[in-house]
Amino acid sequence: MTYNNDNVEMRIPRLGVNIDHVATLRNARGGIHPDPVDAALLAIENGADGITAHLREDRRHITDDDLQRLQILCLEKNIPLNMEMAAVEEMAEIALALKPHAVCIVPENREERTTEGGLDVVGIHNSLVPIITQLSENNSRISLFIEANPKQIEASASVNADIVEFHTGAYAHALDDGNTLLANTILKQLQDGAKQASELGLEVHYGHGLTYENVEAIAAIPEAMELNIGHFIIGEALFTGLPAALLRMRTHMAAARGILL
Ligand code: PXP
Repeated sequence: MTYNNDNVEMRIPRLGVNIDHVATLRNARGGIHPDPVDAALLAIENGADGITAHLREDRRHITDDDLQRLQILCLEKNIPLNMEMAAVEEMAEIALALKPHAVCIVPENREERTTEGGLDVVGIHNSLVPIITQLSENNSRISLFIEANPKQIEASASVNADIVEFHTGAYAHALDDGNTLLANTILKQLQDGAKQASELGLEVHYGHGLTYENVEAIAAIPEAMELNIGHFIIGEALFTGLPAALLRMRTHMAAARGILL
């Protein structure tokens, strides 16, 4: 399958829209509204380059049925679906049957509120290899959600991942706390990590905690091919509507590359 890569040619990173928290809102009442698949369609119609959804083991937001319907929508619209999942057998089986364009393997801990920290690829190297091999042979691109740490990047290349997605949560938190020194240190790691990953043949993505305020420094990193953004966009959509929130995010991402949208 080929995807529209206009944004790459324009040198703007692709925007993957994570719609998990539309499901969080729906599940607060246990009904069918708001539907994350409707949100995905609206996002696609308003400039999303991809849709991202995390099927958690506890199914706290996205459900198996949502994921099926998202895959049908994405295939119909020729838009990549990026399925986030823990490296466990149950999820691997679901991904093998679903055949999403990409699988992003994330660490998962039932007590956490969100994905805290990156995957320890070094530590779980041996258990990752068979999952990655199976999913790659099934034609999904494999992304590993890691901290921009040289050893984790090396290990990601050694397990034959296609992509590393660098966790931007610590950068976002440091800025929120007004700790510019720490934010700059983390930004440097995110920049250096991109160079290392790229030299090892890995595509570079970023995600977590990105907002209008912090996205430009990340989108400006030359190796950044894709940003996956969810919570902030869905939150802003409550105030401005999803199309306006997406346009504003894309405008910041383009501005980071010196392009006026
Ligand atoms: N990328 C990955 C791998 C994630 O786990 C998440 C959060 O689910 C995101 C991106 C999006 O983060 P946020 O919702 O903070 O924008």
